[in-house]
Amino acid sequence: MKIAILSGDGIGPEVMAEALKVLDKASSVYKFSVETTEALVGGAAYDRYGTPLPKETLDICSANEAILFGSVGGPKWENLPPNLQPERGALLPLRKHFSLFANIRPVKVYPNLIGLCPLKDELIPNGIDIVMFRELTGGIYFGQPKTISEDGMSAVDTMSYTKKEVERIARKAFEAARLRKSAVLSVDKANVLMTSVLWRKTITELRDSEYQDIELSHMYVDNASMQLVKNPSQFDVVVTENMFGDILSDEAAMLAGSLGMLPSASINESGFGLYEPIGGSAPDIAGRGIANPIAQILSAALMLRYSFGRDDAAKAIEQAVEKTLADGYRTGDIYQKKEGEKLVNTKEIGEHIVGYIE
Ligand code: IPM
Ligand code: MN
Repeated sequence: MKIAILSGDGIGPEVMAEALKVLDKASSVYKFSVETTEALVGGAAYDRYGTPLPKETLDICSANEAILFGSVGGPKWENLPPNLQPERGALLPLRKHFSLFANIRPVKVYPNLIGLCPLKDELIPNGIDIVMFRELTGGIYFGQPKTISEDGMSAVDTMSYTKKEVERIARKAFEAARLRKSAVLSVDKANVLMTSVLWRKTITELRDSEYQDIELSHMYVDNASMQLVKNPSQFDVVVTENMFGDILSDEAAMLAGSLGMLPSASINESGFGLYEPIGGSAPDIAGRGIANPIAQILSAALMLRYSFGRDDAAKAIEQAVEKTLADGYRTGDIYQKKEGEKLVNTKEIGEHIVGYIE
């Protein structure tokens, strides 16, 4: 497995170190070999090359089969012009360059961490286990024109979708649903947006022609955002366009209690993918060795599953995380001062997870 390692800024390098230890252990237990190449990205790359996504980095990514990504950004680079800012200047071009159209964000509330969910217990009788499929290379993020007028008095963003773009993300959601509850919820704003009218029509046609075994339902995005905090147990596989997915996935992520727990995968047609934690670079705690590496570790598991077809090793990592949590090991963000909980740092929790991989 040839993997580009882009640790980035803030807590990125600290949590990445733990993910690499976990990968190393998984590779020896499951008998595969990993070859990693590091490259600079985000603010770290800007400081060295004057750009958040240098050609060197892009070349390294192209020469590998997957990208394990940490996080980018921080106060130091916040006032740069937009195209040089780490988030906009590195992450968005990487997604577009490799056509990473399918962003997969699983949101799960672990039984031992249910107390971290900000909702009342009675609202989540059946726990939370959602997989969000967010379209990642179209919609209002990339549509043209996208400009601000010279006099600064008006601006325009363009939301556009083609049938093909809708179909390929819908297909991913339908395929995933077949391995879960055979149900897909599509979220749109078809009462207002023409792109949503196309979205709904395209998904319905695809369901009727190729996925008749899947139950498809639709929800407007404003209602979906309300339902997520009212009755999150009703959600399973959700598919939606780029910006709706951006907003709803942060909302859903908070149900897990900490952004430090949630991984994501962004993949293209050929299985090449970028794997990153949902939470940001957390500059407030960076460099102190206390960040939660679980999102990064679970991102490595998603990489084994989606880019390398090693579901066995991915499951072993996920189970090792569950066992570590069941044993009571907690970084500060998930520590509830409950009996049996042990507050540990980034390295310590990483070591426990490594120890449980079998
Ligand atoms: C995300 C982030 C990015 C997005 C930003 C950093 C450009 O919020 O991955 O969800 O909006 O897609
Ligand atoms: Mn976001």
